[in-house]
Amino acid sequence: MCGIVGVVSSQNVNEKLFKGLANLEYRGYDSVGMCFLTNNKFNIKKGVGKLEEVHKKLDFLNSSGSIGIGHCRWSTHGGVTKKNAHPHVDCGNRISVVHNGIIENYSELKDELIKKGHKFYSQTDTEVIAHLIEDNLRNNGIEEAVRVSLNKIEGSYALGILFADEPDKLIGARNESPLIVGLGDKENFIASDVPSILSYTNKIIYLEDKEIVVLTKNSHKVIGLDGKEIIKKINTINWSAEAAEKGGYGHFMMKEIHEQPVAIANTLNERLRNGNVQFEKEFGLSDDYLRKVKRIVIVACGTSWHAGLVGEFMLEELARIPTEVEYASEFRYRHPILDKDTLVIAISQSGETADTISALKEAKKYGVKTLAICNVMGSSITRISDGVIYTRAGPEIGVASTKAFTTQLAVLYLLTIKLSKLRKTLNEKQIRDMISGIRKIPLQLQSVLDEDTEILKCAEFFSNKPNSIYLGRGVNFPIALEGALKLKEVSYIHAEGYPAAEMKHGPIALIDKNMPVFFIAPHDIFTYKKVLGNIEEVKARGGMIFAVATEGDKEIPKKAKRTIFIPKTLYTLSSILASVPLQLLAYHIAEKLGRDVDRPRSLAKTVTVE
Ligand code: AGP
Repeated sequence: MCGIVGVVSSQNVNEKLFKGLANLEYRGYDSVGMCFLTNNKFNIKKGVGKLEEVHKKLDFLNSSGSIGIGHCRWSTHGGVTKKNAHPHVDCGNRISVVHNGIIENYSELKDELIKKGHKFYSQTDTEVIAHLIEDNLRNNGIEEAVRVSLNKIEGSYALGILFADEPDKLIGARNESPLIVGLGDKENFIASDVPSILSYTNKIIYLEDKEIVVLTKNSHKVIGLDGKEIIKKINTINWSAEAAEKGGYGHFMMKEIHEQPVAIANTLNERLRNGNVQFEKEFGLSDDYLRKVKRIVIVACGTSWHAGLVGEFMLEELARIPTEVEYASEFRYRHPILDKDTLVIAISQSGETADTISALKEAKKYGVKTLAICNVMGSSITRISDGVIYTRAGPEIGVASTKAFTTQLAVLYLLTIKLSKLRKTLNEKQIRDMISGIRKIPLQLQSVLDEDTEILKCAEFFSNKPNSIYLGRGVNFPIALEGALKLKEVSYIHAEGYPAAEMKHGPIALIDKNMPVFFIAPHDIFTYKKVLGNIEEVKARGGMIFAVATEGDKEIPKKAKRTIFIPKTLYTLSSILASVPLQLLAYHIAEKLGRDVDRPRSLAKTVTVE
């Protein structure tokens, strides 16, 4: 996820680009860049770091031009370097491009363009766009060259494009990445979101997929990839700037919960090919090595530790590799037993959690191979590890982890497929079923999000109770733990997660009519019937029962006060779908109680102390 902004005006655009990017920094902050066009020449300033850091060195505000584009980056292709920072230009330095998205066929296009003599300077997929347009500009005007080029591109993009020889025109385009157009007074804008330009205009056009916009300071025109002009509705936005930053949601947490279908789709993007899983070159571990691994140890904290427990279930059940999950904070103080056949996996959203960094360093002392599952490119944990799989959730601002968690589960599932295939613990049909199962998850998540009204009704019962219990079994036991953690951290209500059958060994004494009990009980061949029995045990003691169940389940709604349905999926994948109602429940309860949802008391997004 990156942020882009562009302005064409009758005045200097430096401040507008700067403020626009400052508002978009939540979308990515590993590098930043701007391009101003003056006297038919580009003035490009870019560097690695946050906007303020790069600004200190390059002074963005000391630039002039009445047309410009800007970008803040969240790396996907190519490391965090100045060369890979946007904007990117063509060979002749006459076309400048900023991009948010992933060009899936970039390597094929790059090979073709190199054969034609184009020279590339970065490792990004974006640079291909500048050269492709340059190539098509030989026989076309600028609008047509952009259109013809985009017809060759597969993947997602939001683009801002400048041409040194057409200094009055700013071109934007979108496909599966957000881009809006702002219409101002003698100036027009493109941006990744509304808030970044809301101080300058509230007249907004929402571009749809496969649409191109051509802006001058006094005009706008939208065309489709077929070249036909499209008349668009101009919307007047009445949001406050703060509400707008959160995309119209009350809090970042809610926004991030709703981003999960896209986050999971991004996490899968380009990794499922020819009936197999392929990670990028940063994965760093050879097939030969992976075939020989005898044991996996996962180290993590908090929500990431819960993801590790789900990973343990998947890796043991399907890839048949003995797996242990350790609290990173405990691991380094207990002389772990590690040998060369053990793979240590560190899971961390931020990649900067001090306990996880220390655990990883401890593991490295034993000479084992290490793999990071991480959301932040270039973070400490990714630099220490031998290999990395990125979760591609995009920046997570809310302290309570939501989309980072479900994308961690998606990565662990992909890793399980890869290992199962390599070690032949599953047959081809089982692998195909796993792949088609996860491909459906983004759409299925959307339908879980649509259950929100029902979840809001559950929140009514929880919000005035001081305690609650979450119960699940198998792959959904860690989801019970995660549901309880979400509730504790954002609402300050005491909550506990247990394996459902463990209840009768003690915690059942807590059950009375004031105790809400949330069962995570999707249909499965392993434990479903036993869970029905556990529900009866709680019911017999007067507990208030709520449940997540599989669509079509007739039994659970008879026993529960409220049931949230999730679509049918493979058992292991039910853990991803079942997480979302629990996130929404915690959110609604916290909101009802007036808590500071995005910044709960005593918590920090990244815990950099041990
Ligand atoms: C989750 O909602 C928490 N805020 C917290 O438990 C978090 O998962 C933990 O601190 C680990 O962070 P990391 O994933 O960035 O390492």
